[in-house]
Amino acid sequence: MFKLKVISSTVRPGRKGPVIAKWIVDEAAKHGGFEVEFLDLGEINLPLMNEAIHPVMKQYEHEHTKQWSAKIEEADAFVFVTAEYDYSYPASLKNALEYLVHEWAYKPAGIVSYSAGPFAGVRAVMSLKSDLLSLKTVSLSEMVNIPLYNQYLTEEGVFVGDEKLTAASKIMFNQLARYAKGLKIIKEDK
Ligand SMILES: Cc1cc2nc3c(=O)[nH]c(=O)nc-3n(C[C@H](O)[C@H](O)[C@H](O)COP(=O)(O)O)c2cc1C
Repeated sequence: MFKLKVISSTVRPGRKGPVIAKWIVDEAAKHGGFEVEFLDLGEINLPLMNEAIHPVMKQYEHEHTKQWSAKIEEADAFVFVTAEYDYSYPASLKNALEYLVHEWAYKPAGIVSYSAGPFAGVRAVMSLKSDLLSLKTVSLSEMVNIPLYNQYLTEEGVFVGDEKLTAASKIMFNQLARYAKGLKIIKEDK
């Protein structure tokens, strides 16, 4: 079983990120290849990156960084659940990425993007993918892009993906498991 961290990116009160993330966490559990943990950046509540020493040195001063580092270190794979803020991904995710270097490296990432509008957060995806390059996180081309997410919310506010979204998530998780297996070898080959 690979350790999968599903990271919900937005932090504002009333954010929809965790609602959508809950669905993808359930889909990941159904896949059967992952031990899944959900990480809500709104709950984790990292301050703006405030470590004095470059994270490449891994000499963390603050307890919040040590805890964040431990969570990401133990991961074999990630799914970033991201909204699109002003044509990019939220600053809260950029901040969480910036705290660490080695912990992200040689691990695969699926992306679930969503939007209240019609473009499904795909512009956020492109900027996230380019930033992940510098951290050596391998982002998959297989992903789940959700337009007009309100159409998938029940009256109780639960997100229920349709057949297409579920099929896309299955393809993403299959690839995520393959890449997790392969990248583990690269990561351990120092
Ligand atoms: C600061 C901000 C910027 C936004 N920018 C975009 C955008 O560029 N493109 C888009 O499709 N939706 C945009 N939206 C609308 C979001 O798709 C919608 O509010 C979504 O619920 C945001 O995710 P969250 O609820 O997890 O915060 C923006 C929303 C906020 C709050």
